[in-house]
Amino acid sequence: MSLFRIVYVSDAVGDAGAGLLPLIDIIGASDRNNRRDHVTGVLMRHDNQFFQAIEGARVDLDRLMGRLRADRRHMNIRVLADARIEHRLFADWAMAQVDAPPALGRLLSGMPAEPMAKTQVERILSDTSRTMASAS
Ligand SMILES: Cc1cc2nc3c(=O)[nH]c(=O)nc-3n(C[C@H](O)[C@H](O)[C@H](O)COP(=O)(O)O)c2cc1C
Repeated sequence: MSLFRIVYVSDAVGDAGAGLLPLIDIIGASDRNNRRDHVTGVLMRHDNQFFQAIEGARVDLDRLMGRLRADRRHMNIRVLADARIEHRLFADWAMAQVDAPPALGRLLSGMPAEPMAKTQVERILSDTSRTMASAS
Protein backbone atom coordinates (compact mmCIF):
# COMPACT_ATOMS: atom_id res chain seq x y z
CA MET A 1 0.00 0.00 0.00
CA SER A 2 1.37 3.41 -0.97
CA LEU A 3 2.07 5.89 1.77
CA PHE A 4 1.86 9.65 1.46
CA ARG A 5 2.88 12.63 3.56
CA ILE A 6 1.08 15.96 3.47
CA VAL A 7 2.57 19.00 5.17
CA TYR A 8 0.65 22.22 5.60
CA VAL A 9 0.61 25.46 7.53
CA SER A 10 -2.54 27.27 8.60
CA ASP A 11 -3.58 30.30 10.62
CA ALA A 12 -5.03 29.62 14.05
CA VAL A 13 -8.39 31.23 14.73
CA GLY A 14 -9.24 32.79 18.10
CA ASP A 15 -8.42 30.72 21.17
CA ALA A 16 -6.82 27.99 19.09
CA GLY A 17 -3.75 30.20 18.70
CA ALA A 18 -2.77 30.24 22.36
CA GLY A 19 -2.85 28.22 25.55
CA LEU A 20 -2.72 24.52 26.19
CA LEU A 21 -6.41 23.59 26.21
CA PRO A 22 -7.05 23.95 22.48
CA LEU A 23 -3.98 21.84 21.76
CA ILE A 24 -5.06 19.15 24.21
CA ASP A 25 -8.43 19.04 22.49
CA ILE A 26 -6.91 18.72 19.03
CA ILE A 27 -4.39 16.10 20.12
CA GLY A 28 -7.14 14.09 21.86
CA ALA A 29 -9.23 13.82 18.69
CA SER A 30 -6.14 13.27 16.56
CA ASP A 31 -4.92 10.44 18.74
CA ARG A 32 -8.27 8.66 18.62
CA ASN A 33 -8.90 9.09 14.90
CA ASN A 34 -5.35 8.66 13.69
CA ARG A 35 -4.89 5.37 15.55
CA ARG A 36 -8.06 4.10 13.89
CA ASP A 37 -6.91 5.28 10.44
CA HIS A 38 -3.20 4.39 10.79
CA VAL A 39 -2.30 8.03 10.34
CA THR A 40 0.86 9.33 12.01
CA GLY A 41 2.47 12.74 12.19
CA VAL A 42 3.52 15.80 14.06
CA LEU A 43 1.84 19.08 14.97
CA MET A 44 3.55 22.32 15.94
CA ARG A 45 2.14 25.71 16.76
CA HIS A 46 4.15 28.84 16.35
CA ASP A 47 3.15 32.49 16.34
CA ASN A 48 -0.55 31.82 15.76
CA GLN A 49 0.14 29.34 13.00
CA PHE A 50 -0.10 25.58 12.85
CA PHE A 51 2.42 23.40 11.03
CA GLN A 52 1.39 19.79 10.63
CA ALA A 53 2.65 16.69 8.84
CA ILE A 54 0.29 13.76 8.34
CA GLU A 55 1.36 10.39 6.98
CA GLY A 56 -0.77 7.50 5.84
CA ALA A 57 -2.80 5.97 3.03
CA ARG A 58 -4.21 8.35 0.42
CA VAL A 59 -7.84 7.74 1.30
CA ASP A 60 -7.25 8.38 5.00
CA LEU A 61 -5.24 11.54 4.37
CA ASP A 62 -7.84 12.90 1.95
CA ARG A 63 -10.58 12.25 4.48
CA LEU A 64 -8.56 13.94 7.21
CA MET A 65 -7.83 16.93 4.97
CA GLY A 66 -11.58 17.25 4.44
CA ARG A 67 -12.14 17.42 8.20
CA LEU A 68 -9.23 19.83 8.62
CA ARG A 69 -10.56 22.17 5.94
CA ALA A 70 -13.93 22.26 7.69
CA ASP A 71 -12.41 22.96 11.12
CA ARG A 72 -13.08 26.54 12.24
CA ARG A 73 -10.14 26.53 14.68
CA HIS A 74 -7.88 27.37 11.78
CA MET A 75 -8.08 28.79 8.27
CA ASN A 76 -6.05 29.48 5.18
CA ILE A 77 -4.50 26.02 4.88
CA ARG A 78 -1.43 26.14 2.61
CA VAL A 79 -0.13 22.74 1.54
CA LEU A 80 3.68 22.82 1.45
CA ALA A 81 4.20 19.22 0.43
CA ASP A 82 2.09 16.29 -0.70
CA ALA A 83 4.11 13.36 -1.90
CA ARG A 84 4.46 9.63 -1.86
CA ILE A 85 6.93 8.41 0.77
CA GLU A 86 8.84 5.21 1.35
CA HIS A 87 8.89 5.42 5.15
CA ARG A 88 7.02 7.22 7.87
CA LEU A 89 9.06 9.76 9.81
CA PHE A 90 6.67 9.59 12.79
CA ALA A 91 5.77 5.90 12.78
CA ASP A 92 5.39 5.74 16.56
CA TRP A 93 3.16 8.78 16.88
CA ALA A 94 -0.56 9.00 16.11
CA MET A 95 0.05 12.73 16.44
CA ALA A 96 3.07 14.10 18.23
CA GLN A 97 2.88 17.63 19.52
CA VAL A 98 6.26 19.28 19.80
CA ASP A 99 7.61 22.77 20.39
CA ALA A 100 8.46 24.51 17.19
CA PRO A 101 12.20 24.50 16.46
CA PRO A 102 13.79 27.86 15.55
CA ALA A 103 13.95 26.73 11.92
CA LEU A 104 10.14 26.67 11.78
CA GLY A 105 9.99 30.27 12.98
CA ARG A 106 12.36 31.25 10.20
CA LEU A 107 10.37 29.31 7.63
CA LEU A 108 7.05 30.82 8.69
CA SER A 109 8.30 34.38 8.89
CA GLY A 110 10.13 34.23 5.58
CA MET A 111 8.06 31.66 3.67
CA PRO A 112 10.71 31.29 0.98
CA ALA A 113 9.68 30.35 -2.51
CA GLU A 114 9.82 26.79 -3.76
CA PRO A 115 12.07 24.81 -3.87
CA MET A 116 13.80 26.43 -0.87
CA ALA A 117 10.71 25.96 1.28
CA LYS A 118 10.58 22.30 0.35
CA THR A 119 14.16 21.69 1.47
CA GLN A 120 13.53 23.55 4.72
CA VAL A 121 10.33 21.63 5.42
CA GLU A 122 12.12 18.34 4.85
CA ARG A 123 14.94 19.35 7.16
CA ILE A 124 12.57 20.47 9.93
CA LEU A 125 10.70 17.16 9.74
CA SER A 126 13.74 14.93 9.64
CA ASP A 127 15.43 16.87 12.49
CA THR A 128 12.24 16.61 14.57
CA SER A 129 11.85 12.92 13.87
CA ARG A 130 15.48 12.29 14.84
CA THR A 131 15.16 14.31 18.06
CA MET A 132 12.05 12.39 19.01
CA ALA A 133 13.65 9.03 18.30
CA SER A 134 16.62 9.84 20.52
CA ALA A 135 14.35 11.12 23.31
CA SER A 136 12.08 8.09 23.39
C1 LIG B 1 -4.38 22.24 13.55
C2 LIG B 1 -5.31 21.07 13.65
C3 LIG B 1 -4.80 19.78 13.49
C4 LIG B 1 -5.64 18.67 13.56
N1 LIG B 1 -5.13 17.42 13.37
C5 LIG B 1 -5.97 16.35 13.35
C6 LIG B 1 -5.48 15.04 13.10
O1 LIG B 1 -4.28 14.80 12.90
N2 LIG B 1 -6.39 14.02 13.11
C7 LIG B 1 -7.71 14.20 13.35
O2 LIG B 1 -8.46 13.24 13.33
N3 LIG B 1 -8.19 15.44 13.61
C8 LIG B 1 -7.35 16.51 13.62
N4 LIG B 1 -7.85 17.75 13.89
C9 LIG B 1 -9.27 17.88 14.24
C10 LIG B 1 -10.15 17.78 13.01
O3 LIG B 1 -10.16 19.02 12.33
C11 LIG B 1 -11.58 17.40 13.41
O4 LIG B 1 -12.06 18.31 14.37
C12 LIG B 1 -11.64 16.01 13.99
O5 LIG B 1 -10.94 15.09 13.18
C13 LIG B 1 -13.09 15.54 14.15
O6 LIG B 1 -13.05 14.33 14.78
P1 LIG B 1 -14.36 13.66 15.40
O7 LIG B 1 -15.30 13.52 14.23
O8 LIG B 1 -13.88 12.38 15.94
O9 LIG B 1 -14.86 14.62 16.45
C14 LIG B 1 -7.02 18.86 13.83
C15 LIG B 1 -7.52 20.16 14.00
C16 LIG B 1 -6.68 21.24 13.92
C17 LIG B 1 -7.23 22.62 14.12
